[in-house]
Amino acid sequence: MPVPAEVRELSIYEDVTEIRHAIAAARRDGKRIGVVPTMGALHAGHLSLIEAARAECEFVVVTIFVNPTQFGPQEDLSRYPRPIAADVDECRRLGVDAVFHPQAETIYPSDFKTFVNVEDLSNKWEGAFRPGHFRGVATVVLKLFTIVQPDVAYFGQKDFQQQLIIKRMCRDLNVPVELRVCPIVRDTDGLALSSRNVYLSPSERNSSLVLSRSLLFGEKELHAPEANITAIVKVMREMVGSEKGVTLEYLIIADPNTLEEITEPQRQMVLLVAARVGTTRLIDNVLVLLPHLAEHSRIE
Ligand code: PAJ
Repeated sequence: MPVPAEVRELSIYEDVTEIRHAIAAARRDGKRIGVVPTMGALHAGHLSLIEAARAECEFVVVTIFVNPTQFGPQEDLSRYPRPIAADVDECRRLGVDAVFHPQAETIYPSDFKTFVNVEDLSNKWEGAFRPGHFRGVATVVLKLFTIVQPDVAYFGQKDFQQQLIIKRMCRDLNVPVELRVCPIVRDTDGLALSSRNVYLSPSERNSSLVLSRSLLFGEKELHAPEANITAIVKVMREMVGSEKGVTLEYLIIADPNTLEEITEPQRQMVLLVAARVGTTRLIDNVLVLLPHLAEHSRIE
């Protein structure tokens, strides 16, 4: 029987040895350990992952760490929001057992030399616009996994390429963690929740709705008989490109396992978009399933 949130104690750890001890005790008690890796500034998207973890695991760990190695030199590392007190309150409210909130030097001591690189997949799309980003993500996620040693880890579909890269890393390196991917949580107007949405001015926020609008359009068109992928992508790119203050970075329809662009409809497809709205970089995606088409080869 799950213990109700109000009788759980939330503990906050900065130290690797201390959190390891707490988790080892939970494991000895036969508890299933779930981890939700985050960079904090928690919103309803993060909270949905925590709730999924809470529903399946007896001991839930949320990691809050703004990981410097996944930010490029011109990116928003220094101004990334860090409302740690509010984040801890949210974790307590949701019945989280432990928050891991390490200092940067704890994760990356000055003589740190080891990185994980998931080749090829890390260089496409997001990786092409953010060189080194996925090397930083894969490295920190593997470190968090070896610190927490979770049974299950929760990620969002919002960062579609990220979850694919983490799956591949776990498969390639025999990391014994079950991965769960949870659906994208959106605002009522369609905008995918993101910690970076706080950077948007009211007019930029309005312009940013073109991302989800274009995906919705693409999704609908893909369901039409004899859908023409090239034509759909062209219209979607025009929609995003013609929106005031929005600079399109990429918009593709791809195979959800390889992220290779496709030109013919297939059973499973992912529509991926990235754009700058003013100085804020936003990403969004939608998965489309056409159940009447034959199963495509896939990597598990
Ligand atoms: P962060 O951007 O904080 O996101 C943490 C997790 O929340 C990710 O798995 C992300 O996909 C998920 N998430 C974000 N917005 C969401 C939304 N609107 N709906 C559902 N899930 C959402 O992603 C990272 O941090 C980092 O790269 C990290 C994995 C923690 C490594 O540093």
